[in-house]
Amino acid sequence: MSRVLAGADGAPLLEVAELVKRYPRERSDPRGRRWVDAVNGLSFDVRRGETLGLVGESGCGKTTAAMAILRLVEPTSGSVRFDGAEVTTMDRPALKRLRRRVQLVFQDSAGALDPRLTVGATLREVLLVHGYDPSRSEERVRDLLEQVGLSSSEVVRYPHELSGGQRQRLGIARALAVEPELLLLDEPVSALDVSVRAQIVNLLLDLRERLRLTYLFIAHDLALVRHLCDRVVVMYAGRTMEIAHARDVERRALHPYTRELLAAVPRVDGSRRRREAVKGTAAITASGPSTPGGCPWSERCAHPRKDDSCLTVLPPLERTSDHHQVACLKAFSEAESGA
Ligand SMILES: Nc1ncnc2c1ncn2[C@@H]1O[C@H](COP(=O)(O)OP(=O)(O)OP(=O)(O)O)[C@@H](O)[C@H]1O
Ligand SMILES: [Mg+2]
Repeated sequence: MSRVLAGADGAPLLEVAELVKRYPRERSDPRGRRWVDAVNGLSFDVRRGETLGLVGESGCGKTTAAMAILRLVEPTSGSVRFDGAEVTTMDRPALKRLRRRVQLVFQDSAGALDPRLTVGATLREVLLVHGYDPSRSEERVRDLLEQVGLSSSEVVRYPHELSGGQRQRLGIARALAVEPELLLLDEPVSALDVSVRAQIVNLLLDLRERLRLTYLFIAHDLALVRHLCDRVVVMYAGRTMEIAHARDVERRALHPYTRELLAAVPRVDGSRRRREAVKGTAAITASGPSTPGGCPWSERCAHPRKDDSCLTVLPPLERTSDHHQVACLKAFSEAESGA
């Protein structure tokens, strides 16, 4: 399924730099904080034409990052640039144009669709909101259904009358209705039965080629992301830990957390190596790491060269090669020395 992408080495379409989203908490956490930094210094870019995987376990801030990119939640600080324009300071009209060019597809299509609208009405509504010529909307609705593999007889059905796979096809059609350039796919197959997952993945791959789309593919499953994506961003506790080519990630992963994730990926023979290795980390990301100032992964890190600096110094995201960046004090020196 991997391919050589003309655009993958091109100019960035989306640039996220040091993005932070802080939410207030009702009650303070065990460390007395009344906030949670759901996204806490996230940086990556998506090049035009590529599929970038954003992977990290539950609670690490993936959905919050996608929402902050579109300003569905307001970023606390940091920068988001789309096609060269700063998103965080955009006025309303510019934001509306952005939300046409960048569309979000949710994991839970049932929750994201209006239960009172039929398939046809769902699509017509999006077209109307974005100013499409109403006299041509029926034709456009038919095209969209065909593109996502729904039959025209589905037009009169309501979301609850569709299967999970059909609902996700509708969610994708709704996103495509306004001819976006970039899709933010937030765990688009996680809620589906295994048998349906492959169909939706194949649909997404097919649409990517046909419509020349750029994808940010969000998942907690590194195996899936590695398979589908050109590059992979590994995220932990709201931060970027490592960015690597998907084809390199297995052999050349530098960050101890990426290595843990790889160790938890099921093997072809069905066994799982050290599956327990990353157990319990979700709880830590949810409450925030207890290493203020230091590397968020440090308290769980088993790197042989881990030392006090890991607990006190926040590792910057550093480039080890053209296609590889890592935020680890020890992994970086390892790469430099060629170890
Ligand atoms: N509106 C909110 N108010 C307060 N805290 C929030 C809010 N939304 C998310 N959080 C917290 O921010 C953190 C990141 O949540 P987010 O949903 O972005 O994670 P995620 O990586 O998408 O997780 P999952 O894989 O389960 O979808 C979590 O600790 C979550 O509890
Ligand atoms: Mg999520």
